[in-house]
Amino acid sequence: MADKKFDIIVYGATSFVGQIITRYMHAQFADGSIRWAIAGRSHSKLQNVSDAIGLSGVEIIVADAADEDALRKICAQTSVVMSTVGPYALYGDILVKVCATTGTHYCDLTGEPQWIRKMQLRHEADAIKSGARIVHCCGFDSIPSDLGVHFLQRNALEQFGQTCARIDMRVVSMKGGASGGTIASMINMVKEAVSDADLRRELQDPYSLCPQNHQFSVTQPEVKIAYDTVAGGWIAPFIMAGINTRVVHRSNALSHNSYGVDFKYEEAVVTGQGSSGKRKAKAAHWGVNALMLGLAVPPIRWLLETFVLPKPGEGPSEKAQHEGMFDIVFFGSTARGETIQCRVTGDRDPGYGSTAKMLSQAAACLAKDVPDSVPGGFWTPATILGDMLIARLQAHAGLRFEKHA
Ligand SMILES: NC(=O)c1ccc[n+]([C@@H]2O[C@H](COP(=O)([O-])OP(=O)(O)OC[C@H]3O[C@@H](n4cnc5c(N)ncnc54)[C@H](OP(=O)(O)O)[C@@H]3O)[C@@H](O)[C@H]2O)c1
Repeated sequence: MADKKFDIIVYGATSFVGQIITRYMHAQFADGSIRWAIAGRSHSKLQNVSDAIGLSGVEIIVADAADEDALRKICAQTSVVMSTVGPYALYGDILVKVCATTGTHYCDLTGEPQWIRKMQLRHEADAIKSGARIVHCCGFDSIPSDLGVHFLQRNALEQFGQTCARIDMRVVSMKGGASGGTIASMINMVKEAVSDADLRRELQDPYSLCPQNHQFSVTQPEVKIAYDTVAGGWIAPFIMAGINTRVVHRSNALSHNSYGVDFKYEEAVVTGQGSSGKRKAKAAHWGVNALMLGLAVPPIRWLLETFVLPKPGEGPSEKAQHEGMFDIVFFGSTARGETIQCRVTGDRDPGYGSTAKMLSQAAACLAKDVPDSVPGGFWTPATILGDMLIARLQAHAGLRFEKHA
C-alpha cells in the first residue's frame, strides 16, 4: 500500500489513551519512518492535542464514528487505521465494516468479546476478499497473554520437540489504574449481558472467538481462590482472563491447533503468601464480583458512574503511568510432564502507558513488517504479528519476553 498517503491514522487521538499514543508516535517516528496523521470527531479537540504535544506537519482529519463517508475518506488515505474510539460495541461497527470492505488494515484496543464476535461474523468474508487484516485486542488485553503463550510455545517446541498441553498464566505483580473509557466499555458489556440470555451463554464459552468449525471440546480449568502450587502463593481470578483466554484459543485455532486440540489455558493473579495472601485473594475476587453486580443494578450503576468511577477522558496521572509496571509468568507443561517458565514484563502502567506503546507498535508492525502474501481476515496479535511484534516491543516499548532457566 505504498501508494497511500499515510502508513497509519490514529483514530481517536483525543481519547485518554489516544493522547498518550499521539505523544509516543511523535517521539518514536520523528525520523519520518512512519507517515501518520491524527483523526477524531472534533477538529478543535484534535487541534488542542496537536498543540499540547507540539506536533508539526501531522495532519488532522475529522470523521464521526457514525459517518460512513468520512470513514471511507480516512481509509482511502492510509494503510492502517488504529482506533481508540470506544466503547467499541457502541462506536466501532462502521469503521470495521469500512476497513474490511476497502482492504484497509485495522487494529484496536477492544476487550469486548461479544463485539469482536459480531464483527467476525459480519465482516470476515469481506476482509478475506479485500485483503484487510483486522487485529483486535492490541493492548494489555491481550498482547502480553497472546504473545506470552506464543513465546512459551515456541521455546517449548525448540526445547522438548513439542508444545505445552497446559499453560497457567500468573500475574505476579501489576501497578496501574483504569480510565473512564475502560469503565464505559465494562459498563456497556454488563448492560448488554443483563438483557440478553444468549449473550450471557456466549460469554461463558471459552471458544467463543474461535472459527465456527474449531475442534476444541476440552473443558477449560476454572480459577478459584486457592493456594497455587504452580506459582507458590494464593491466587484469585484475573479480571482480564475473560478476553485474554478467548484470544489465546483463537490463536491456537488459527495456527492449525499448533498448541494441541486439548490445550488448556487459564489466568490468575497471585496475591501473596500466608493468611495475608489468602485475605487479599478473597478481597480481589469479591471486589470484582461486587463491582459487576453493582453495575448490573441501574440505581447502583448510576451512583458508581456519578460518584466513584472515572469518567470518559479521565485516567491515571502521568506519574502513575511512569511508576506503573506489570510482571507476568507463564508456567507450561507438556503432555510428557516436561516444564518450562517464561516471563513477560512491562515498564509502564499496563492499561495506558504500556498499552499505548503496544498498540502503536502493533500498527507499525502491520504497516511495515507483515509480508504482502499474508491474506486478509480477522487475525490475533500472535498469529499475524508474532515474533515481529515481540522484537518491536522489546526494542521500543519497554516489554521483555524471557525464558527462565
Ligand atoms: N485493551 C486495553 O488494554 C485497553 C486499555 C485502555 C483503553 N482501552 C479501551 O480503549 C478505548 C478508549 O479508552 P479511553 O479511556 O482512552 O477512552 P476516552 O478517553 O473515553 O475516549 C473515547 C474516545 O472516543 C471518541 N468518540 C466518542 N464518540 C465518538 C464518535 N461518535 N465519533 C468519533 N469519536 C468518538 C472520543 O472523542 P472526543 O474526545 O471528541 O469526545 C474519544 O476520543 C475504550 O474502549 C477502552 O475500553 C483498552
